[in-house]
Formats: sequence, structure tokens, C-alpha cells
Amino acid sequence: MAEETKILVLGPTGAIGRHIVWASVKAGHPTFTLVRKNAVAIPKPTLITAANPESKEQLLESYQKSGVTLLEGDINDHASLVKAIKQVDVVICAAGRLLIEDQVKIIAAIKEAGNVKKFFPSEFGLDVDRHDALEPVREVFEEKAKIRRLVEEAGIPYTYLCCHAFTGYFMRNLSQLDTTVPPRDKVYIQGDGNVKGAYITEADVGTYTVKAAADSRTLNKAFHIRLPKNYLTFNEVVSLWEKKIGKTLERIYVPEEKVIEQIKG
Ligand SMILES: NC(=O)c1ccc[n+]([C@@H]2O[C@H](COP(=O)([O-])OP(=O)(O)OC[C@H]3O[C@@H](n4cnc5c(N)ncnc54)[C@H](OP(=O)(O)O)[C@@H]3O)[C@@H](O)[C@H]2O)c1
Repeated sequence: MAEETKILVLGPTGAIGRHIVWASVKAGHPTFTLVRKNAVAIPKPTLITAANPESKEQLLESYQKSGVTLLEGDINDHASLVKAIKQVDVVICAAGRLLIEDQVKIIAAIKEAGNVKKFFPSEFGLDVDRHDALEPVREVFEEKAKIRRLVEEAGIPYTYLCCHAFTGYFMRNLSQLDTTVPPRDKVYIQGDGNVKGAYITEADVGTYTVKAAADSRTLNKAFHIRLPKNYLTFNEVVSLWEKKIGKTLERIYVPEEKVIEQIKG
């Protein structure tokens, strides 16, 4: 599997799916997408770029202009799934958290099609076999782990793409509650702020996912992305922001018990 890997992206209009589509196009792979029939307008993203155009219609139009094959279908429509899967080598699912369990339908379709060289179930987060979480995230981890086991039982070749925090989700407001912009006066820091996290842009997730799709070394493995310069404690992240705005913020440390209380709330 190298240059001419045919890639199907399920969930190509989603937050991460669109970056995988563009990375696949950029890498020169024949790229296929499964698109639901009724194009629904998606909320306007904060930042409008080629990867985040204004509407779903515009996104699909730009895919088409870039040579992406748009296949009409739905994860709940078995025939459309099988038909799409039969045309490709690699299936990358970027479905959102509400569809994690529904991936049993993709597993069934891949089994029936019988041609897939690698399947990426929707993961794109911490390695669910190695990490625990509090509710409500725990439930998502359990669902993702369950899908892993079903993929393995079915004998489907796979790669589990593991990364940590998308910058689009966590950095745009510096992980502050109840605000959409980063703080300019005081910043709340969970715990002592000294635990390291691996931050990654959605575009980089797309790039490395596509690299992993065409690389035989990732076969039947959990593939972890951790970019050394983006592996930072939260205190280090705050310092970077302070340097950028030329201002020192008041740092308010929230003890672990309080964080747990807030999550429950
Ligand atoms: N590490 C992190 O920081 C982080 C952050 C967020 C998410 N994630 C993970 O990334 C993965 C993707 O999440 P996301 O937030 O990018 O997803 P999302 O934005 O909710 O995108 C969902 C995609 O699935 C499509 N879809 C929905 N129902 C469908 C159906 N019945 N048939 C076919 N397609 C359907 C949607 O298409 P329509 O346009 O038709 O609705 C859309 O393209 C998840 O595993 C999530 O846990 C990780």
C-alpha cells in the first residue's frame, strides 16, 4: 500500500473528517467520501478556511472540484456502505461520538465487501485500551474499546489512530469554561498544571492519518501521534499565550476535587 492507496472517508464533513479528506487529496490518493443525501447546513465555523468553508454545500463543492469522488450513502444503509467500500483499499471512519456504536454496521459491510486492506475506526483521541476517564467520557472510551474488539474478532486489518487534544477544541479558548476566546486577565488551571498533554492541530491529525493509511508498519497497531514541540504542560501553554499577548495573567489553580465536582455538574 503506497502511492495509489484508494481511501474512503466516512464522516467527511465532520470536524476531523474534512481534514482527512484534504490530506488524502494533497497526498495524491484517489479519495472517496460517503455523503448523506440531504445536505444540511452546518454551523458557521469560527475560522473560515479552505478546510472550514461556510457551509456543507460549499465543502462538498470544493471536494468535487478537487477530484474527490462523492458517493451518496448512509452508515445505516448497508447496501450504500458495501458499494462504497468495494471501491477502495482503506476505510477511515471519522464519525462523531454519537455514532461510535453504529460502527458495527461498518464492520459488517467491510466483512461482506471482503477487500479492505485497512480500517481506521473513529478514534482520534487517547488510546482507549490504556486510559481511563470520568463520565461522560468514560462511556465513549468503552464504546470505542468495544468496537476495537469487534474489529479484531472479525479479522479486519486495522489501525487505531491515537492522539490527544485537538487544538481547535482545546486551545481556541485555552480550555476555559463558559468562554469561546482565550483569557486576557485571569486563567483557570486544572490541578497544578504540570501534567503534560500532546496538543495537535486537526490538519496534522489529517496528515498523519493519511500517512498511516498508506504505511504497512501501522498494520494492526495503535498508532500514536505525539509531536515533541506540542507535548506541553498546561503551565507551559499559558506561558506561550502570555508571551504572545505580551501580558502576565493571574493563574488560578483549581484543585482536583473541584474539577471532578465541575465535571459532574
Ligand atoms: N482528540 C480530540 O480532541 C477530539 C475532539 C473531538 C472529537 N474527537 C474524536 O474524533 C472523532 C470524530 O468526531 P468529530 O467531532 O470530528 O465528528 P463530527 O464533527 O460530529 O462529524 C460527524 C460526521 O459523521 C457524518 N454522519 C453523521 N451521521 C451519519 C450517518 N448516519 N451516515 C453517514 N455519515 C454520518 C456527519 O455527516 P453530516 O454532515 O451528514 O451530518 C459528519 O460528516 C470521534 O471519534 C471523536 O471522539 C477527538
